[in-house]
Amino acid sequence: MLSRRETLLTALKAACGLSVSAASPLGTLLATPAAAQAALRPPSQWLFPFGAALRDGPLADEPDYRAAIVRHCRQVVGEGGLKWFDLRPSRDRFVFDQADMQLAFATENGMELRGHTLVWYGAMPDWTKTIASAAEAERELVRHIETVVGRYRGRIKSWDVINEPIPDDPSSRSDIRPSIWQQRLGESHIALALRTAARADPEAKLVINEFDIEFVGDRFRHKRDALLRLVRDLKLRNVPLHAVGLQGHLRGDLAIDMEGLSAFVSEMRSLGLEVLVTELDVVDDKLPGRPELRDMLVAARAYDFLRAIHAAARPAAVLTWGITDKYTWVPIWFKRSDGLANRPLPLDDGYRPKPLMRVLEHFGQGSR
Ligand code: G3I
Repeated sequence: MLSRRETLLTALKAACGLSVSAASPLGTLLATPAAAQAALRPPSQWLFPFGAALRDGPLADEPDYRAAIVRHCRQVVGEGGLKWFDLRPSRDRFVFDQADMQLAFATENGMELRGHTLVWYGAMPDWTKTIASAAEAERELVRHIETVVGRYRGRIKSWDVINEPIPDDPSSRSDIRPSIWQQRLGESHIALALRTAARADPEAKLVINEFDIEFVGDRFRHKRDALLRLVRDLKLRNVPLHAVGLQGHLRGDLAIDMEGLSAFVSEMRSLGLEVLVTELDVVDDKLPGRPELRDMLVAARAYDFLRAIHAAARPAAVLTWGITDKYTWVPIWFKRSDGLANRPLPLDDGYRPKPLMRVLEHFGQGSR
């Protein structure tokens, strides 16, 4: 008779074509009884700092939420708070309340707050549409970065300076995603932002953060190629840039390009850049409904992703985009058609660890 674990692994194989035998590293780690986990290094001693994105509502109101973050995280990042939309309700005002609160929480609990984000096409307040010329764009961008990075100098040590610069389906290697900055200044806005951030805090780690570069398929290969072109060009011109952030919004229905992703990470390392995982989760709208199986599929996808990265280099940090399924951006765009709640994150909606947490622990121990 098949054990419960073998039944699940068989279902896993049937559902996603992944070859997960009970004897494989993934099969073994998913099957390790929870009790054995006590022997593992705690999150504070993982080989990379682990962290998660914070949401302000539960951070203010929910002790269980705060406890889960403190228990698991060495780094945090605001889901919002440092975006233009949150900081800049009007041209003349900067509102730092959300970010200050997040930083106070992080500092009180011995965690680092990452800064997200200075240049992004998304979450822009309407008034920025009135930026009419190159000179005005340069003035606004420089003022914003000087003010925000300057305020948190020495306290926010890692910034997603540039977020999502590559279009979904780039038409060439030099294609850059449209934004007010790209429209008014062209690609030079990227170097301008990085140089301004470096002046405002010379010690800060400056990051370009991107998604959809890890899957099998031409579109994703083109995105990798375009990001590589951009990063190489910046390094050639001595523009300050220290790391590339792989967001890692994985898709339950898309396989990881193991070789392509490893090669990309190696390429970044050979350019002298660190690689971070900044927004890991697994979009599960297309996965089977049964939670136990779905959680395994989510874990298996993240396992492949982290394995491909680790094959080239240990990431400088791994952050998930939220800690609990209770609070996730995923249903905003990827609600399930069967009405079941999404389960993209390491803890379930009752703050219980899921197989995805096992996978993170596994890599955090230094295992492959
Ligand atoms: O807070 C209100 C809530 O009161 C209201 O009921 C609800 C109705 O829609 O909206 C809530 O605000 C939403 C907020 O997310 C909740 O956290 C905003 O409308 C929505 O625009 C906001 O979306 C955020 C999105 O970025 C845009 O800023 C998501 O939280 C956040 O997870 C998402 O994060 C992005 C990263 O910055 C970049 N990479 C992709 C990632 C996921 O889309």
